[in-house]
Amino acid sequence: MEVVIVQDARAGGELVAQGIADLLRRKPDALLGVATGSTPLPVYEALAARVRAGKADVSRARIAQLDEYVGLPAGHPESYRSVVLREVVEPLGLSPDAFMGPDGSADDVRAACEAYEKALAAAGGVDLQLLGIGTDGHIGFNEPCSSLASRTRIKTLTEQTRADNARFFDGDVEQVPHHVVTQGIGTILEARHLVLLATGEGKAEAVAATVEGPVAAVCPASALQLHPHATVVVDEAAASKL
Ligand code: GLP
Repeated sequence: MEVVIVQDARAGGELVAQGIADLLRRKPDALLGVATGSTPLPVYEALAARVRAGKADVSRARIAQLDEYVGLPAGHPESYRSVVLREVVEPLGLSPDAFMGPDGSADDVRAACEAYEKALAAAGGVDLQLLGIGTDGHIGFNEPCSSLASRTRIKTLTEQTRADNARFFDGDVEQVPHHVVTQGIGTILEARHLVLLATGEGKAEAVAATVEGPVAAVCPASALQLHPHATVVVDEAAASKL
């Protein structure tokens, strides 16, 4: 595991965006796994700026979603499908056809999870998976004590994660769904390169457990220690407990 400490969130965004641009130079149709939340926004902004400046070519890139809420109506602005389309696919000038994600509003969500696993494999697997981290060490929506071998499946959110995510639902925790679908930790570990980005003091404990703690399901992100090509990019605040 490689740990890179940058000064702040902006520098982290620039570094990761450059890594994505370099990957696309080597493999123009790379499948990019993207994360939601506030942390990766500087990455998407820096990448879009490179595209506008003619310094990155994303025209053949493909985008894969990490996780999704269950039960939000199609087109809900906070469904992760809507979020990824708004924050990644559209600013990069990509077609929605370049995007794939699990269907959290399917009648049979379990079948939708299996279908998503198959779709990822059929697409050749994820080349670079960008990850954020929850304050409890979750990646995707794999809450603490998720199996390290887990596949895409339904999960129940902890109250801490629902409270953390209430800010996207008018601050009202009651509006945050209880259930989600997420790529499993085993699924995530199959990506060729994992890049976890964490910024701010609130992530410092989770980052310390990820990088220096034992590999343990109680901190799902610690599974990155098992991956042959994992990069953890943290700003000074998130690195403060290392
Ligand atoms: C959600 C997402 C995760 C994300 C986490 C942290 O739970 N499912 O993929 O990493 O939030 O979000 P933020 O970056 O806003 O702190």
